[in-house]
Amino acid sequence: MAVLPILQYGEKILREKCVPVEKFDLNLATLLDNMHETLTSAKGAGLAAPQVGLNLRVFVIDLEEEGYFEFVNPVILGTSGSQYGPEGCLSVKGKWGDVKRPKKVTVEAYDRYGIKFKLVGRDFFARAIMHEYDHLDGIIYTDKADNIRDDI
Ligand code: CO
Repeated sequence: MAVLPILQYGEKILREKCVPVEKFDLNLATLLDNMHETLTSAKGAGLAAPQVGLNLRVFVIDLEEEGYFEFVNPVILGTSGSQYGPEGCLSVKGKWGDVKRPKKVTVEAYDRYGIKFKLVGRDFFARAIMHEYDHLDGIIYTDKADNIRDDI
């Protein structure tokens, strides 16, 4: 396993539309292991593949309450409600901004073995899923945020 460099705002790949994973192989497993280690090392809540230089539809989320999840080729099946609050990103170091997100999201994705699963995320978990999902379409939270401010 390895801690990967996290690309910062301005890197072109962060603006690309990512492509689906086709092979659920050892390369994918290694990528996910490295993304998990990178996320843990950065003390973040989520990390998407383009942030480590790969334009693949893959992200990981690690939250104290809900635990650690890997999403490959995710599809948002539905959202409901709304929440408004602070958000940051490992690719936009030292900044925060307020973003409106759904309160609840239903997502379908594959795990590293190619097994499809469906889950419902609420509150901060929903926010994290939508933030990471946006990365797969080249969207950065600052595109949607109000009151972007320096971390103090
Ligand atoms: Co981010």
